[in-house]
Amino acid sequence: MGALEGVVMELNDCAFPLVDSIITTDDPNVAFKDTDYALLVGSKPRGPGMERADLLKDNGAIFTIQGKALNDNASRDVKVLVVGNPANTNAFIAMKNAPDLNPKNFTSMMRLDHNRSLSQIADKTGSHSTRVKQMVVWGNHSATQYPDISFATVDGKPVKEVVDNDWYVNDFIPTVQQRGAAIIKARGASSAASAASAAIDHMRSWALGSDGGWVSMGVFSKGNSYGIDEDLMFALPVTCENGEWKEITGLEINDFSREMISKTEQELISEREAVAGLL
Ligand code: LMR
Repeated sequence: MGALEGVVMELNDCAFPLVDSIITTDDPNVAFKDTDYALLVGSKPRGPGMERADLLKDNGAIFTIQGKALNDNASRDVKVLVVGNPANTNAFIAMKNAPDLNPKNFTSMMRLDHNRSLSQIADKTGSHSTRVKQMVVWGNHSATQYPDISFATVDGKPVKEVVDNDWYVNDFIPTVQQRGAAIIKARGASSAASAASAAIDHMRSWALGSDGGWVSMGVFSKGNSYGIDEDLMFALPVTCENGEWKEITGLEINDFSREMISKTEQELISEREAVAGLL
């Protein structure tokens, strides 16, 4: 709570035009009272020698409480974005602990991976990230994620016709998958500014619309049109309009993509099994 006072000082010092008042609390029932937008940024990081299953369990305890508090206190239209890792499964736990809220209100962040993909393609093709469209990142925010350029264009041309397949498979995909680890190695700390910026991008698209543009969001997979397990928080291609995200349907999935999607799906299924007791 002491450190939080420092955060409040900084927020005040930003003189943000939209800040009306600030409440500091360590009680989630107070924090989420009538909340319209919840950005769940914190989670327990992985320590030395810690197994992924332990990480999932420790975070599970946090997100169970947050899900219940959202369920009991938040606006019925609350938009929840989970950033803290393992983001998909944390969001899944929160959603499962909020049975009175629409599962569509819960999402996990994949926009950082999406933005990383745009930037890598722009760099490779000598273009600009704003000129890359229809990028898709599927699955888990982890090293199994599948950044898929099958439908992407750069400067109006299919990316697949501009870059060679070897670069795509052996360079691009692993670079995007491992980018978080590369930043930790270089900075000695996890991504911060890029993650914060991606969180803002995610909420902005969701709240204000994506203008027909494709974005990747971790969403509840129930009813998805790609045959993916229907009880996961899985990154899918979506567009946003009128405060709602909508899956982009009807994309053709080739054998390579199917294999990649299935790998990240399997990982999320095993994460779900590891936290089964918390759902
Ligand atoms: C990132 O993608 O930069 C982070 O999720 C990495 C991490 O594990 O904190």
